[in-house]
Amino acid sequence: MGDLAGIRDRLPYLSDLGVDALWITPFYPSPMADHGYDVADPRDVEPVFGDLAGFDALLADAHARGIKVTVDLVPNHSSHLHEWFVEALAGGPGSPARARYVFRDGRGPDGAQPPNNWPSVFGGPAWTRVADGQWYLHLFAPEQPDLDFTNPEVVTDLETTMRFWLDRGVDGFRIDVAHGMAKPDGLPDMVPSADTGLFADDGPADHRFDQDEVHLIHRRVRSVLDAYPGTMAVGEVWVSDDERLSQYLRPDELQLAFNFRLLTAEWDLEGLRTAVEHSLATVAATPAPACWVLSNHDRPRHVTRYGGGERGTRRARAAALLQLALPGVAYVYNGDELGMPDVDLPDAVLQDPIWERSGRTERGRDGCRVPVPWTGDQPPYGFSTSPDTWLPMPAGWGPLTVAAQADDPHSMLTLYREALALRRSAAFAGPSLEWLPAPDGCLAFRRPGGLVCLLNVSGAPLQVPEGKVLLASAPVGDGRLPDDAAVWLHR
Ligand code: GLC
Repeated sequence: MGDLAGIRDRLPYLSDLGVDALWITPFYPSPMADHGYDVADPRDVEPVFGDLAGFDALLADAHARGIKVTVDLVPNHSSHLHEWFVEALAGGPGSPARARYVFRDGRGPDGAQPPNNWPSVFGGPAWTRVADGQWYLHLFAPEQPDLDFTNPEVVTDLETTMRFWLDRGVDGFRIDVAHGMAKPDGLPDMVPSADTGLFADDGPADHRFDQDEVHLIHRRVRSVLDAYPGTMAVGEVWVSDDERLSQYLRPDELQLAFNFRLLTAEWDLEGLRTAVEHSLATVAATPAPACWVLSNHDRPRHVTRYGGGERGTRRARAAALLQLALPGVAYVYNGDELGMPDVDLPDAVLQDPIWERSGRTERGRDGCRVPVPWTGDQPPYGFSTSPDTWLPMPAGWGPLTVAAQADDPHSMLTLYREALALRRSAAFAGPSLEWLPAPDGCLAFRRPGGLVCLLNVSGAPLQVPEGKVLLASAPVGDGRLPDDAAVWLHR
């Protein structure tokens, strides 16, 4: 499965890579209907992953190495096996136990229609009917009932969970679905949309996300954090409008919000430049730095998004230099640094609820969640002592392993190590960038400390400009930067 002890064992690798903080996805007791995002007890450890003593040991070792640790906070919903939901089912309509969740009577003469037309992000309706006839809301899987944040007990419990981990010494949280939680009064129908996803693209028309009242919850979260100096929260906020997104970063709300524009951008000049510009514009009037992401556990890995194979890898190398040259915070998804692609998994092993909820039309996110390969030339590549890893690892990954890449000067791993080391140098100082004039199909900017990043997506090689070459994603020995490549210069 991978576990907390495994992360602890690999801390030396993470230090070497240049990682200074971790975000660990949910490791709490869970029936695993959604990769642990269905939390049955937010203040304990799922036995498969270890125990609280094991977590404390990981935290102590990470801190000894100067690595901060943030953990996932999943406020919007619990597992259906959380004791609260078990009580809610037993409690019946109108009971205080039911008032912690969003239970409603159905529509139609016999209440057989869901209370509104909201779709679940994972497909199908966002409502499930229980034996006594009422319906409960689940923006995700039926095993993830939404909590009612207008109930003070729900907010207090979230604060208790935060203090539980902060008192153990964590440095902060990644907040799941941070634009969820607040639901509009009366739960009105939304404007139907073909895309039922997480992105609140339709703005106020999609009533499931990005409601103004969500900011009250973020202020509560922030006041808990403020009692623990040096801690922070990063929000998973799928809001594309710069102004609406920036509201989450007001001085009394989140310290960081992932900006998903790079993760969703096409590999072309327009797409990439727009992604950078919007991300910077979003944070401009806030205390927050920009927060860059190329891949995560919910989206196809960028090697695959950029076309896969040699081309996808070439572009991923260039993308790494783009991401790591930008001012602000960079999140690297485990395996980005190895150039891992998505894996085509057979139907029988798929675990993502999207697969079944979509009537087996969408394969879901398992392809980007395959374990990281460490050594050897056969599965499980040192990830586990068992050949049956929780998702199967494919044949042919020998060259992708950490062991195979570690001493290869041309590997993705070496590129990441060198880039992350350089990123700590004075050339990268300063919170801003200045766009430089660049040839057609190229993007160039300069950081106040003197770092210049030049990205070539023009389709043809380009003369490398004057300056000391610090790092390049492809050979530039002949003074030319190939297509789909980036170079860092000092000027
Ligand atoms: C977030 C998580 C995703 C999960 C969902 C529901 O989007 O990143 O993995 O399925 O929330 O908790």
